[in-house]
Formats: sequence, C-alpha cells, structure tokens
Amino acid sequence: MSATYRQQAPAKVNLFLHVTGKRDDGYHLLESLVCFTATGDVLKGELRDDGKVTLSITGPMAANLSLDDTNDNLVIRAARMLQDASGTKQGADLILDKRLPVASGIGGGSADAAAAIRLLCEMWKLDLDGDILSRIALSLGADVPVCLHGKTCVMSGIGEEITEIPDLPPVPVVLINSGKAVSTPEIFKARADEGFSDANAWDTKQVFQSGAALADALSECGNDLTLPATGILPEICDVMNALAREEGCLLARMSGSGATCFGIYDTTEQAERAAHAIAAQNPDWWISPTHILTEKTREQAEMGAAFPD
Ligand code: C5P
Repeated sequence: MSATYRQQAPAKVNLFLHVTGKRDDGYHLLESLVCFTATGDVLKGELRDDGKVTLSITGPMAANLSLDDTNDNLVIRAARMLQDASGTKQGADLILDKRLPVASGIGGGSADAAAAIRLLCEMWKLDLDGDILSRIALSLGADVPVCLHGKTCVMSGIGEEITEIPDLPPVPVVLINSGKAVSTPEIFKARADEGFSDANAWDTKQVFQSGAALADALSECGNDLTLPATGILPEICDVMNALAREEGCLLARMSGSGATCFGIYDTTEQAERAAHAIAAQNPDWWISPTHILTEKTREQAEMGAAFPD
C-alpha cells in the first residue's frame, strides 16, 4: 500500500491591509502584514501511478464547496499545473479536510492550493525551480504565493512580493466568521472611488516581544477593505464589536476582503474565554481561538499537534 502524505493549510490573517494603487489590468497593489494561525484545513494524499488526480472533500465546511466545482478546485488546478510543468506521469488521490469557512478572507482556497503544491512536490519528488513554483502559485490566485511562503511576512505587489520580517510572538487570536461569504472582486469594486494608502507603512525590521506591542503598532494601520466590506455585509461590524467587547482584546479587525474578523488578546485564557462567551451569544458563528504561528509553533503544528486528525 502506498504511503499517506499530509500537509496543513493554515489560515492566513492580514494583520493590516493597505491598498496602495491599481494596475492597468484591474488588480490592486497591496501592502499587508500576513501571518498564519494554528487553525486551518488539512490536505492528504496517496500516490497513483496512472496520472489521474482525484479530490474528495470532507470536514465541517465541506458542504459549502459544491462537488460540481471539484474540477475547478484550486487543489486540482495546482495538481494539473505541476504535472504540466514537471512532465510527471504520477497522479494522486487527494482528500481535503475543509475546516475553514469558504470565501472568507483567511485564504482558505489559497492555503489549500499552496498545501497542494507542497504536498505534490513531496509525493512526486519534484525538484522544480522556486521561480516556476512562484509563477504557478500566482497564476492560481494573488494570495497563493504568500500561503506557499507560509511564514509571517509583508506582502506587496498584487501578492507576489514577499518581504521577510522578524518572527512575531505566538500572540493569541480569535477568528470569527458569521457564516456569510463575500466576493473578493465585489469588495474591490465597491472601493472604486476611494483613494490609496501610502506604501511602506510598516517598518519591516521591528521586533515585537508581546501582543500588546504588536497591537499598538498595528493601530497605526488598518484594513482598507473594511468600509466596502461592511457596506456589503454590515454584520462584519457586529463581529468586530463582539471581539472588541471581550476582556483582554487589544485589537479587533477584518482580515483580507472579509468577512472573517480577528481579535488579538493579551492572554490565551482571555482569548479562550472570549471565544466561549461569543459562541454562547452567537451559536451560528464559526469561532476559532488560536494563535499566530511562529517558527517553533509551526514545527509543532507540522507534527500534527495543532491540526489533529
Ligand atoms: O487572485 P484572486 O483570484 O485571489 O483575486 C480575486 C479577485 O480579487 C481578482 O479578480 C480581482 O478582482 C481582485 N483582486 C485585486 N487585487 C488583488 C487581489 C485580488 O483587485 N491584489
């Protein structure tokens, strides 16, 4: 029997997101501090030698991904592009354990695509050039390169430029999604008449010892997509207010183009208490108390501690 391979697809969080310009092709130039969390999807695979790639989707959010779309799924598209680029004759049976809400600003689909690239490079023993992988990643979506990078960084361009920064501490965060998807192109379109933020808002050399220091620096920045997103889905304000009201909340903000919001908390206990209290009031919301992945906690996550079966 062939071995089972496994990769995590951690949720990405845009701790701030500034829109700094627009390209002629309609894509927006961004500047964003991106981190990853110890909550995410899990992708598993088994080798096939007939070149076919199949995908089945399990998990609490599976029902939100239509089976008709499986062929369009970013995981399958990533697999096909890797086959084309490498000429491999191998295939794979893939299982995506979908735990993150779909179309929700925390990169679910992008994280899955990046996990597929990592998983299949390992399974098929591909040694593709980094530039080829980056090109494949970007063609799958603007957030895929940063998810492939997988470490806290500042993302710019339309998502393809990545600046490494000193690791952040394992700050406790709570992620909340009210269950309604928002469309990224619609949100960008809705901000059409707004101006642009200045680039280089973030000092990429800063080192933070605590969540409080990080939240303090983040308060100077924002998410430029919040206004258009809350215009389309006012419930996002309820989510941010719910996070902000709880004891120990240092910052509450929307991630990406929404609708998922995050709260940064002073302590893990406060984050867990907040998640519990908000869940009691809003039983339909997806609520995940977690923390920012660091080099160390990422290793633990890779060993399965943060993403148990
Ligand atoms: O690349 P991705 O599929 O994630 O982007 C979805 C849509 O979001 C794009 O078609 C575009 O309308 C918008 N977008 C943008 N600028 C970015 C990323 C996305 O305008 N940097």
